[in-house]
Amino acid sequence: MSCTSLIFRRPIPDDWERVVAVMPAWWDGPDLRALLPRIFFEHFRGSSLLVEHEDVLVAFLIGFMCPDHADEAYVHFVGVAPAWRRAGLARDLYRRFFGLARSNGRSVVRAVTAPVNAGSIAFHTALGFSVLPGDDESHGVPVTTQRGPHGDHLVRFQLFLEPEAEA
Ligand SMILES: CC(C)(COP(=O)(O)OP(=O)(O)OC[C@H]1O[C@@H](n2cnc3c(N)ncnc32)[C@H](O)[C@@H]1OP(=O)(O)O)[C@@H](O)C(=O)NCCC(=O)NCCS
Repeated sequence: MSCTSLIFRRPIPDDWERVVAVMPAWWDGPDLRALLPRIFFEHFRGSSLLVEHEDVLVAFLIGFMCPDHADEAYVHFVGVAPAWRRAGLARDLYRRFFGLARSNGRSVVRAVTAPVNAGSIAFHTALGFSVLPGDDESHGVPVTTQRGPHGDHLVRFQLFLEPEAEA
């Protein structure tokens, strides 16, 4: 995506309120705000990105390099404002995250989504993610059952990063 008026920057802790404030409008379905506590804006800033247009938040990606899996990077949340969708913004955020993951020696990127989130499943599939096998099926996709307070089933994605082509 090329739009010179878009600013990509690392989040700061004070961005947390702005991000969680948009989540109910950007996500259909259950309220996911409890899954994105402020701690992400304190400890995962260097691997996360916000996108602004004229000081208005239009997209964000919160991710990290997995501390316990040396080959793995994880996208915890990605969101794009409804008016900015299908313009390649999330693809651009992922491309930047993949670059960071590669430069940190990571070879695989993982993410999860709810089985009802057809847009997210289509997006991850379009980027080349595969859906990992689960222990059940929901809405026609393999899901992994989670018995936690925030939900039941998750679709788990995985993408192996290609080594960067030599210039
Ligand atoms: C999923 C989401 C992040 C995609 O953001 P986006 O900026 O619109 O995605 P992109 O424009 O980069 O899409 C890249 C490709 O993914 C696919 N895609 C993206 N959204 C899609 C949708 N809703 N339906 C079908 N395909 C889709 C398309 O192939 C698209 O390429 P194309 O537009 O050239 O056909 C956005 O819809 C969103 O914020 N949804 C709500 C939050 C959410 O569900 N986040 C993911 C789980 S944490």
